[in-house]
Order: sequence, then structure tokens, then C-alpha cells
Amino acid sequence: MLAERIEKELNKQINAELYSAYLYFAMSAYFQEQGLTGFAKWMEAQTVEEMGHAKKIYDYVFDRGGRVELEEIKKPPVSWNSPLDAFKAALEHERYVSKLINELVKIALEENDYMTNNFLQWFVAEQVEEEASVGEIVQRLHLVGDRGNGLFMIDRELGQRTITLPTNQQ
Ligand code: FEO
Repeated sequence: MLAERIEKELNKQINAELYSAYLYFAMSAYFQEQGLTGFAKWMEAQTVEEMGHAKKIYDYVFDRGGRVELEEIKKPPVSWNSPLDAFKAALEHERYVSKLINELVKIALEENDYMTNNFLQWFVAEQVEEEASVGEIVQRLHLVGDRGNGLFMIDRELGQRTITLPTNQQ
């Protein structure tokens, strides 16, 4: 059985993951509009992965006999100044999500909920990957600038991304 506080926090995290999906879907639409279809595809894959993160928590709440209560999802921005600006915003967002996950771990330990702590370790590791992959793209965009051949090369490369869905295994 989940403590009420943990159940509430996990529900909040489901909302944060769904907002992440929404934000990246908005970024995907922005890139599509700019004719940068590789960037758009990368963001679309990111959207699906974030939905997977929400579903992973959703399943865990049920596994522990808890209740899922979905809240309203905030409206994301509709455009950014440049591809670099969008990716910088994505990096900032991932750092924020890492903070939320760290906070959740802290709460799980305060409640002596070692099962939830163990469950959350998957997200701790995932955040390292998320920050690294977005951070690498930010760095490359800094190097090539916001237009020209370099940008189109990155676009082509990002278009190759495949979707990795999380499983319920640790
Ligand atoms: Fe689910 Fe990108 O954090």
C-alpha cells in the first residue's frame, strides 16, 4: 500500500511527465513548421518516450494498490526563437525534471518507502541520459549556429532517431 503522500507525489510526477510530452510535441510542431523534419521527428520520439515515463509511474501506482488521479496539463509555449533556443529550453526542462525526481527520492526515503525508492532509481538513471543527449545537441547547435549546412546535417542525423519505450523492469 502506498502512503498518501507518496501517492500524491507520484500523481504529480505523472502530470510532469505528461507535460514533458506536451512540451516536446509543441517543439515538434515548431520544427515541422520550420521545415526541419529531422528535428521534428526527434521531438516526436521524445514525446512518445515521455508518455512512456508517465505510463511507467501509472502502472507502478496500480501495482502498489494506489489511485491514479490525472490533473490538467499546462499549455506549452508555441514557438521558440531558434532551434538552439528550443533545445536550450528542453535542457532546462530536463534539469527541472531531474530535480523533481531527486525530490521524490528524498520523500520516498523520508517515508521509509524503499520500494518506491527502488522504482525511482530507473528514473534517476534515465535523467542522466536525458540531460546528456539534449545537452549534446545544444553543444552542437552552438557550434554550427542556427542555419547553413551544419544545421541540415544535424537535422538529417536527428531524423534517424528511433523510439525506446521504458519497460516495467528495473
Ligand atoms: Fe521523463 Fe524527459 O523526463
